[in-house]
Amino acid sequence: MPSIALRVLSMFSLALLLAPTAIAAATAYGRLMLQFPNFWPDGPQQQSTLAVGNEDVKVPVTLGVMSRCPDALICEATFDKVVPQVADKIDLSLEFIGKINDSEPDFGVTCLHGPGECAGNVQELCAAKYLDVQQWWPYLKCQNFNGRNKVGEPDIALKCADTAKFDWLGSGVGLCAGEDGSGKGAEGVQLLKDSVRRTEELGIEYVFPTSIRRDDINVVDINRKSCTVLINNKPVCIHDGAWKECEDGHAPEDFIRQINAEYEKLNMV
Ligand SMILES: *[C@@H]1O[C@H](CO)[C@@H](O)[C@H](O)[C@H]1NC(C)=O
Repeated sequence: MPSIALRVLSMFSLALLLAPTAIAAATAYGRLMLQFPNFWPDGPQQQSTLAVGNEDVKVPVTLGVMSRCPDALICEATFDKVVPQVADKIDLSLEFIGKINDSEPDFGVTCLHGPGECAGNVQELCAAKYLDVQQWWPYLKCQNFNGRNKVGEPDIALKCADTAKFDWLGSGVGLCAGEDGSGKGAEGVQLLKDSVRRTEELGIEYVFPTSIRRDDINVVDINRKSCTVLINNKPVCIHDGAWKECEDGHAPEDFIRQINAEYEKLNMV
């Protein structure tokens, strides 16, 4: 197949291109080792993302979502079958899509499905910050179970804490998200703003209806990216009305397989 030949060829030329850099790096490392023999006692292969000692490196798995979005609920329902299978191999996080907006009185963020969604986002971020995934994931499921238009409502927030069996205040979640369950706690609101900035950096975005400038293209439709699944910081799949851009599949077992492969790479098993 010509495409494979081409790929091999381009890999080969890439190797040629990188060789002088690699040699220079190896030489620099050799000099460093002469100067500081204990600099990296176990060799350079153990720096950064690779495993050190007995501690394994978890695979970052991120769901870029909006708490009241139907697409997010579908992604999360799929991940409900993924998380238990790989719980000890992943570092699962949620990142939220919104727009920083200083005119928003409570959150400083405009959420597509209204301020109630911002509140839900804050509650979920606070739960993820203060609880193990074994507790915050059931909390998220409980919120979704009550219907997406109720996500963020204070009584659901508090009720779901009972369902997920954690103490709203004692756990730290309540102080973060607001004792009354409003989602307006200062810490949580800051978490939301930070998260919205990160999704923008990751390129997970939603062009809000107000920003439609062109008549020829439905900008809203082509830019919706909720929900986006990232495995080891790489977007691998989107659910936007339907599954899209999922090169390696979108069934639970497809995500499990990709996570296992990344885990093996990160830990060189
Ligand atoms: C910013 O927030 C204000 C107040 O809620 C709202 O009227 C305005 O449409 C928002 N701007 C954007 C771009 O969403």
